[in-house]
Amino acid sequence: MHYPYQITSLEQYHRDYRRSTEDPEGFWSEVAEQFQWRRKWDRVLQWNFREPKVEWFGGAQLNITENCIDRHLSGKGEQPAFIWEPNNPEDRVRVVTYNRLHKRVCQFAQVLTNLGVKKGDRVCIYMGMVPELAYAVLGCARIGAIHSVIFGGFSAQSIADRLEDAQAEYIVTADGAYRGEKVIPLKSVIDDALIGNRTVKKVIVYTRTRTPVSMIKGRDVWWEDEMEYAESQVEKDGIVSFPAVATDAEDPLFILYTSGSTGKPKGVVHSTAGYMVWTNYTFVNTFQYKPGQVHFCTADIGWITGHSYIVYGPLSAGATSLMFEGIPTWPDAGRFWDIVQKHKVNILYTAPTAIRSLMGFGLEPLKDKDLSSLQVLGTVGEPINEEAWHWYDEHVGHKQSPIVDTWWQTETGGVLISNLAGVTPAIPSWASLPMPGVQPLLVDENGAEITGNPASGNLCIRAPWPSILRTTWGDHERCRQTYFSTYEGLYFTGDGALRDEHGNYRITGRVDDVLNVSGHRIGTAEVENAINMHSDVVESAVVGYPHDIKGQGIYAYVICTNLRGSEEDTRKNIIQTVSRIIGPIAKPDRIQFVSGLPKTRSGKIMRRILRKIAEGETANLGDTTTLLDPGVVEEIKNGKL
Ligand code: WTA
Repeated sequence: MHYPYQITSLEQYHRDYRRSTEDPEGFWSEVAEQFQWRRKWDRVLQWNFREPKVEWFGGAQLNITENCIDRHLSGKGEQPAFIWEPNNPEDRVRVVTYNRLHKRVCQFAQVLTNLGVKKGDRVCIYMGMVPELAYAVLGCARIGAIHSVIFGGFSAQSIADRLEDAQAEYIVTADGAYRGEKVIPLKSVIDDALIGNRTVKKVIVYTRTRTPVSMIKGRDVWWEDEMEYAESQVEKDGIVSFPAVATDAEDPLFILYTSGSTGKPKGVVHSTAGYMVWTNYTFVNTFQYKPGQVHFCTADIGWITGHSYIVYGPLSAGATSLMFEGIPTWPDAGRFWDIVQKHKVNILYTAPTAIRSLMGFGLEPLKDKDLSSLQVLGTVGEPINEEAWHWYDEHVGHKQSPIVDTWWQTETGGVLISNLAGVTPAIPSWASLPMPGVQPLLVDENGAEITGNPASGNLCIRAPWPSILRTTWGDHERCRQTYFSTYEGLYFTGDGALRDEHGNYRITGRVDDVLNVSGHRIGTAEVENAINMHSDVVESAVVGYPHDIKGQGIYAYVICTNLRGSEEDTRKNIIQTVSRIIGPIAKPDRIQFVSGLPKTRSGKIMRRILRKIAEGETANLGDTTTLLDPGVVEEIKNGKL
C-alpha cells in the first residue's frame, strides 16, 4: 500500500488508537519514518502544558518542501500537484505538475533570497487564490522564512496590526484578486496598511487583474521581473535546483492570525515537523486518499483549512489538489458542481455554510451535473445541522459517498475529531471519534472531568498531538493564558461538546465570546472595538444569534450620543466603520440602538441576557436581580427589532 499508516478498517482504527495513547512515541516515530529527514530526531516527544512547552521530533532537521515536492519528482514529476480553476470558467485552467511546482518554488525561493529574506524572517502574503500564492508559501518554507498569510477579505487596518505584531519585513501581494464579479484591489489595500509602517522593506507584486497600482521606488518590485531574473540562477542546462535550507523540527513554519475572546487577533505559531506529520497523517486517513485522486478543498489559503488541506497535507502525500479562485455562486450557484464534473473531483471538502447557501438555490443548479466522480465528502468550520448533512448526502453524494465531519481549529493545525471516510461510521452532525493521538475529555465549569457516557461539557485535550500550536507570536504568556490556564494541565478548545454512549463527540459550538460566522472566527470584543471607533458610539455589546445560512449572525447593541441624521444612516456608517477596521466579514447583521446595557454591579456586561434577546427568547431571561439597572432589560426587550 502507498501509505503504510493509512487506517483501512474499524478494527485497525481501534488498534491504532490504543497504541497511539499507550505508546505515542513509538507510534509517531513509525509514521515519521515515512518522511524525508536531513537528520533524525533524538527524542520523539517532550512536553508539559504548564509553561506550555511541546517538542516533537526534537533534534531532527528537515525541509518541508523536500517532503512536499522533491521526494515526489522521480515517480510523480508529471502528475498534477495543483489543478487551478480560474474565477471565470471561460478562462484557461492551469495544471501545475510536481516538476513545474518544483521549478516555481525554487525560483521564488531564489527571489526571496535575492531580496534579502533569510531564515526566520517573517513574510506576509496577501493574495487571491492563484497558484502563485502556493509558490510564495512554499518558497518561504524552502528557505526557512516564516510565512503569515492574511485572508484577502481583511482591511488595511487588520493587515497593519498583523504586520506590526509579526514585525514582518516582506510582503507578497498582487495588483488585485477576482472574486465572482468583484475585483479586490489588493495592492492598494497594502499601500494603506503600510502608511506609518516601519518594518516592511520589500513588497513583491504579482500581476493578476491589471488593476492600476502605484509602485514605490526601492520598495515595490514586480513578481514577474524578479522571477525572470531568478530563473537563470536556478536553472542550469535544464536542471532546476535551489538547495532547501535545513530547518529544525521545532522551527516555526508559519504564523496565522485568529480571533479569540479578548483583544486583537493572536498569531498562532505552528512548527515544522509536527505540523507536516499531522497534516499528512490526517489527510491520508480522514479522506482515505488514494494516489491519483483529485482533492478539492474549497477553503481559502488565507485560513488554516487551506494551509493544511490545500497545500501541506495533500502535497506531502503527493496528491493532486484542486485550487479554486472564485466563489460558489458565480457565474451561478452550480459552480461547485461544474468544477466537480470538469475536473472529475473525487474528494470535496467544504463548509456547512456553503452547503446551506447552495441548498437555498434548490436542485436546479445540480440538474444534469455529473457528480459520479465523487467518492468522499467532507465538512469543516462549524457544526453541520442535520438538514444540511442530509442534503449533502442525498443530492451531492447520491448516498454513495461517506461524509466526514471534521472538527478542528487553527490552533490544532489539522483534524482532531472526525470519522474516517468509509472506515469508521458517519453519524449526521457528529464529528464522532478522535484521531489516533488525540485524547479528548469533557470537563464541567469547575474543571472537573465528566466521566461516563452520555455526557456534556467543555471540550479539552489531555496531551499534545504533533501539530498543537507552540505559542502565540511574541507573547507566550498569552498562549498559556488562553489555552492552558482555564483548566490546569489541559488544552482548552473553547468549544462545548456532547459525548454519546459509544464515545462519539458532537461539537455544539463555542462556549467563549468567539462567534462563528459563515465558518469564520470573529471575536465579539474585536467587533465591539471596531464599532466603538465610530464617533457617535459610546459603548456597544456584540453577541451571536442563529442565522439560517451563516450559522451565526452578528447582533450589536449600541449606545450612541446625539444621533446625527437618521438611525438608518448611523447604522450604515457603523457597518462601514467595522468593514474598514476589520473587513467585510465582520459586518454586524443587526444593530439595535439602546440607551443602556445590562451590567452587573461590578460593571460586567451580562451577555447571557443579550444573547437570549437576540435569539428572540425574551420570555425566560433567567435571574436579572444582580443587575445594576434591571429596567434596561425591559427597554431592550421591547425595542427588539
Ligand atoms: C468550529 C477551522 C463543529 C469550532 C478548522 C472550532 C466546528 C472553530 C467544526 C475553529 C466541526 C470547526 N463541527 N464545529 N466539524 N470544525 N468548528 O480556527 O467552534 O477557523 O473551535 O478552524 O470552528 O475555527 P478555525
